[in-house]
Amino acid sequence: MRIVSKYYTCVFSLPLFLIPLFVGNSAERQRWVAIMTQGEPPSRPPPPAPFSFTPPDGSGLPRLMLNAADWQAAAESVLPRSVYDYYAAGADDRTTLAANPAALAAHRLRPRVLVPVGGTSPATTLLGSSLAAPIVIAPTAMQRMAHPEGEAAVARAAAAAGLPMTLSTMATTSLEGVAAAVPGGGGVRWFQLYVFRGPARATTEALVRRAEAAGYTALVLTADAPVYGNREADVRNGFSLPPGLRLANFMGDAPPQDEEGGAEQGADEEGGAAAAGGGGAIADMDASVAGGSGLAAFGDAMLDADLSTDCIAWLRTLTSLPILVKGVLRADDAAAAMAAGAAGVVVSNHGARQLDGAVTSVMALRGVVEAVKRPPPGGPPPGVVLVDGGFRRGTDVLKALALGADAVLLGRPVLWALAVGGQAGVAALLGSLIDETRRAMMLAGVPSWDRIPPGLVVLPDGRIADDAPVDASGW
Ligand SMILES: Cc1cc2nc3c(=O)[nH]c(=O)nc-3n(C[C@H](O)[C@H](O)[C@H](O)COP(=O)(O)O)c2cc1C
Repeated sequence: MRIVSKYYTCVFSLPLFLIPLFVGNSAERQRWVAIMTQGEPPSRPPPPAPFSFTPPDGSGLPRLMLNAADWQAAAESVLPRSVYDYYAAGADDRTTLAANPAALAAHRLRPRVLVPVGGTSPATTLLGSSLAAPIVIAPTAMQRMAHPEGEAAVARAAAAAGLPMTLSTMATTSLEGVAAAVPGGGGVRWFQLYVFRGPARATTEALVRRAEAAGYTALVLTADAPVYGNREADVRNGFSLPPGLRLANFMGDAPPQDEEGGAEQGADEEGGAAAAGGGGAIADMDASVAGGSGLAAFGDAMLDADLSTDCIAWLRTLTSLPILVKGVLRADDAAAAMAAGAAGVVVSNHGARQLDGAVTSVMALRGVVEAVKRPPPGGPPPGVVLVDGGFRRGTDVLKALALGADAVLLGRPVLWALAVGGQAGVAALLGSLIDETRRAMMLAGVPSWDRIPPGLVVLPDGRIADDAPVDASGW
């Protein structure tokens, strides 16, 4: 005891300049010596603060927006109820809506260690484009309900982040307006196609030609919406497009003048352009539906419920753009789409908005990968596989790629970030997801996408995914 107290007395009676000699490692000692002899060195610039949002009305939103759940909670407090409900909705009892993230969580990672990961990059290439990460903005309808700049803001944020954006047929900014909104025409843009029936097929054809002319580099043909899913919140809210907004791709086939789409909206309000080009009736989808969801009524009236693989062959006669078929959950459907000329598929249950009870996309992924990437001898060339539905974290992106996907589509989180922070919000969301993906790769021992260690993912039933054969039925 006496020895210990002597030691303390001795240390604390040391002249200050000797303290550094007792401190930590040599770098730390040198820093202390410098502080003692020259004073505190000029401090390093502080790390950039995480994106924070001050709500316009000071209503007390969370200050730190760190993940998709933060953005969603903040968006719920700023969006009108019927808009929030429309974006958040799932079909029927929302069992698939709950199952999508649960299935992702039930897939576990077996990280490799002692793998040099200092130079890890999440960058990839997809359909000939370089991407900062294997993340693509999913098509979501009517983004101007979330923010006045809507689709234009999303396109700018995606281009700045180095990620592709998929524009919905049901956008509230025209496809030409979105292309023109990105400075210098940069960024990668894909166009999602709903195929209309009867005489309106001509409008679909015009959309394909316009998308190609405006520099979109892929078509995403949505195959899982022969009829609209039953989203009861929309029925209860009598959901329709808010006044002043229109489905801008149908405001006339001529390219608009206003790069943000404003002129199109104005022209329509004056009663002119909406009738041009045969698209006016479609643009007015909110035409008075007594009760129920205006969108569902519109969809049921307009969409071609008889879509088949013939449609892929028909599109191939119109365009040389690669065609991705979205909404595939089975290996046999994937194989049929590829045989008909698709360049790939998006494994998707439409964010759980169509068939409730549908399997989760992560469950369906391996079988579809098998069909698309390992076609039978004499079959179509291998294609690309994308996946969406509940992907929120870098670890989710990693799981998808380890199961064979080329990229993940991101739906609702983009709408939440757009509603809360406009373009800056979407930029912050995408930036953090790219960072998360890189961190997940490093922690799992994945220096790049072509060096994913075998056996990284464990299936919910406990089998290692790479060792569990996909059976003949694609399961
Ligand atoms: C509000 C909303 C609108 C959507 N609109 C479309 C659409 O116009 N076309 C389409 O193919 N898919 C559409 N989807 C489905 C998305 O493209 C995507 O499949 C789904 O949102 C992915 O799931 P996640 O939201 O959990 O990420 C929409 C989804 C939401 C949430």
